[in-house]
Amino acid sequence: MPFDQTGFRRHARRFLPEDLDVDLHGRVALVSGANSGIGKATAEALARLGAEVWMLCRDRQRGERALAELRASTGGRLHLAGLDLSELAAVRRFLVSEAPPRVDILVHNAGALLDARRFSSDGLELTLATHLVGPFALTVGLLDRMRRPTDQPPARVVWVSSGGMYTRRLSVERLGQREGPFDGVTVYADVKRAQVVLSELLAERLVGQGITSNAMHPGWAGTPGVQSALPLFHTLTRRVLRSPAEGADTVVWLAACPRIAGLSGGFWFDRQEAATAPLPGTRERPEERARLWQAVQEWSETRWP
Ligand SMILES: NC(=O)c1ccc[n+]([C@@H]2O[C@H](COP(=O)([O-])OP(=O)(O)OC[C@H]3O[C@@H](n4cnc5c(N)ncnc54)[C@H](OP(=O)(O)O)[C@@H]3O)[C@@H](O)[C@H]2O)c1
Repeated sequence: MPFDQTGFRRHARRFLPEDLDVDLHGRVALVSGANSGIGKATAEALARLGAEVWMLCRDRQRGERALAELRASTGGRLHLAGLDLSELAAVRRFLVSEAPPRVDILVHNAGALLDARRFSSDGLELTLATHLVGPFALTVGLLDRMRRPTDQPPARVVWVSSGGMYTRRLSVERLGQREGPFDGVTVYADVKRAQVVLSELLAERLVGQGITSNAMHPGWAGTPGVQSALPLFHTLTRRVLRSPAEGADTVVWLAACPRIAGLSGGFWFDRQEAATAPLPGTRERPEERARLWQAVQEWSETRWP
């Protein structure tokens, strides 16, 4: 099974050790949802490589605890910023008052699989707001701090999607659905599909600006999120789940590996490019991609510059 720990270990045999033999001193990384699971493992790995890491966490107490732990375990330069990605006002506040003046790595990791339809204070369904709309507003708000001249290594945006998106074809109508039965797993998979397409759309628009955008999926990692959202799945698979660090491996690789600095618009799994629509009927039409680009700007009240 490629998604579990045996898959990771098999795939890891072809990883090149020199890919992450890298010094990130002087680089600034933002990691959302960094107090738990894959985000915390990502923040830890980037701090160990020398990056200055901003942990973007919605809950201050949980954030403080993780910050103290990672400072102790890495000895690195880490900061905490309170940020609920599902709230546009919080994103704007962060951009105005807290965000660092330079950003080299932006990891969109924060996420949750919900059991009921809930709305953000902007009136957006929470899965959509957290995984897509808030991160888009954050990315656009940080563009000036991420652009690099062509003689410098580009800044990198990394989207943590999910293999769950494989079963879904992009539907902007479904993303905007506000009524009717709610199935958290399919809503999550729809939004994770949209993240992958949005990363590709951003990559197209960022050509020549010294910023790359890539999406990945981590396989199945044993994290607090999986345990609470999918308890049965967790119980049945916990012996074979990847560790959070194994789930984070491709995130860190996309954020840090010098060899792939210029690559953009890809979808990655275990450090290899993966097909985005291997299942029949899951490839979206170009009109649907254009609709997504339009919709995400409307939902986020953010115009692409
Ligand atoms: N684990 C897997 O097998 C797996 C597989 C596929 C994809 N993923 C993706 O990997 C990412 C990390 O998940 P995980 O498994 O590590 O779960 P996790 O342990 O629950 O971590 C999720 C993190 O996101 C944060 N978060 C949730 N909503 C947020 C919001 N509105 N604003 C800011 N932060 C928010 C959580 O904060 P709190 O602690 O405050 O809740 C937590 O820090 C997610 O995007 C998930 O969809 C995971």
